[in-house]
Amino acid sequence: MNHGTAPGKIILFGEHSVVYGQPALAVPVGVVQAHASVTPLANEFHRMRLTARDVGIDAWMDELNDSHPLALIIRLALEALAISGNGLHVELRSSIPIAAGMGSGAATSIAILRALAAYAGKTLPAERQSELAFEVEKIYHGTPSGIDNTVIAFNQPVWYIQGETPQPFTVSGELDLVIADTGIHTATSQAVGHVRQRWEKDPAGIAILFEQMGQIAHAARTSLERGDLASLGSLMNENQSLLAVLGVSSRELNTLLHVCHEAGAFGAKLSGAGMGGNIIALTHPEPIELIQSLKLAGAEHVYHTRISS
Ligand code: MEV
Repeated sequence: MNHGTAPGKIILFGEHSVVYGQPALAVPVGVVQAHASVTPLANEFHRMRLTARDVGIDAWMDELNDSHPLALIIRLALEALAISGNGLHVELRSSIPIAAGMGSGAATSIAILRALAAYAGKTLPAERQSELAFEVEKIYHGTPSGIDNTVIAFNQPVWYIQGETPQPFTVSGELDLVIADTGIHTATSQAVGHVRQRWEKDPAGIAILFEQMGQIAHAARTSLERGDLASLGSLMNENQSLLAVLGVSSRELNTLLHVCHEAGAFGAKLSGAGMGGNIIALTHPEPIELIQSLKLAGAEHVYHTRISS
């Protein structure tokens, strides 16, 4: 058997504005993972099978067309590796919440690429993995910035501007982040579509919001490099206010953010596309009470992750 895994991701700063050319900062999150395996089928040598029980798929590949994200990444992987999938069974499972801003789509694509590469005895460089996964991101929403596939393929904190070479960034000291899922799962395409409509109606006004988000990302990079948690927290709160003006926050997100502020977090914001999905909070190293309070306030999943360089 051959395996491939890929972590989830969270955006620290710059969701939505990154689609319009502003910088964003994102980090991989290893506490959640997508996992793919490739095994030979026992009695079938002419077809390929795909099983992804989490999303209710158990089908022959010739029954799925390329509008299906998992079918597309498998076809792209087979082409890139110059192998046939006949007689193979790809099985996928993932602990990354779907449509919650944690990069589940890009992570499943990259886990599949890695598993098929391992099966073929070949290596696909991170940049190539990212490019191939980007093709699939276009199915999830038409205008992806590319940040999800980049941070997951490179598996390191990334400063990202669309069209530019992604740069790893350093974190001075350690960042304790709590991620809490509202349990409201909104497709990225819906939130990105909402922002697009706002931008089409008022391009000048929305451009100002995006520029402010870009300035926050620049300031946040400096704070991360200095390990200045207080200023990082304030910048998260500022970024959240702008996202709320953009219309991608929600009542459920606001409830969880309020809990973080009450618990004394340095700062907190939604992360990812919003309209549901996750919040992230920058906290002290032992955030047990905050985790309990978030659960009591209705969070579906709560994760604690520590980021360091
Ligand atoms: C989704 O994780 C982040 C967005 O900025 C969309 C994108 O960058 O493609 C909302």
